[in-house]
Amino acid sequence: MGTYRQLLSTEAGRYQEHLLRLDGDSRYARFSAITSDDVIRRYCDSIDWRSTKIIGFFKDGVMRGAAEIRYNLRPLPDQAELAFSVEKECQSSRVGTNLMVRALLILRNRAVIKAHIVCLLSNRRMQKLALRYRADFKAHRGDVFLTIDVPYGDISSLLAELVDGYLGWMNAGIDIVLGPKSSFLPFERIGQPASTPAPRLAQ
Ligand SMILES: CC(C)(COP(=O)(O)OP(=O)(O)OC[C@H]1O[C@@H](n2cnc3c(N)ncnc32)[C@H](O)[C@@H]1OP(=O)(O)O)[C@@H](O)C(=O)NCCC(=O)NCCS
Repeated sequence: MGTYRQLLSTEAGRYQEHLLRLDGDSRYARFSAITSDDVIRRYCDSIDWRSTKIIGFFKDGVMRGAAEIRYNLRPLPDQAELAFSVEKECQSSRVGTNLMVRALLILRNRAVIKAHIVCLLSNRRMQKLALRYRADFKAHRGDVFLTIDVPYGDISSLLAELVDGYLGWMNAGIDIVLGPKSSFLPFERIGQPASTPAPRLAQ
């Protein structure tokens, strides 16, 4: 059904294209606000890759889902913020669940102890996803603040990340060789325009 792997900093353009492809409702749910194409472009251009990791979900070589992890770097990364996005045609197919598993694995192995997620009060899927990990749930006006206690990493979580990373890149290689749509270019220019026109929003 697709593959998962971490993005390189040179692949910011892929992430931008994915976010621009989100339909209006998903885009609103992702950013908890009406977000224009320009805002998304600036958002992607401003990513600090020293404190950000992005896990991508790829289908036929195209990025259709993402988990964005932002750490606090001072003094050690013990807290992180997570944000998820899955394109409409791939939603409710466990892509978000699989991204969450991988994001928490990365956090465990970096000794992060708290993962924070902000979503809309109406976002049942995101809440269900986080509540599976016994997230602390706080509602404030139209938003929900979810905090997950991340367990300590161990040798098995380190091995799991290693193997998953290896499989992800192996599948990316297979995509290049076999997939007609898989124009895998890890060194494409950052901030390339979206190949698919994004839906127009009112503002
Ligand atoms: C929220 C989101 C990441 C979830 O990912 P997903 O792949 O669609 O969800 P999954 O299939 O992994 O399902 C997650 C949970 O929601 C439940 N679910 C799936 N579809 C559902 C639906 N239509 N209504 C209610 N619950 C639903 C699943 O049963 C699962 O719960 P469980 O773990 O208790 O079984 C995805 O829908 C998305 O990107 N939405 C738009 C952006 C967004 O809302 N981001 C979150 C804010 S950061």
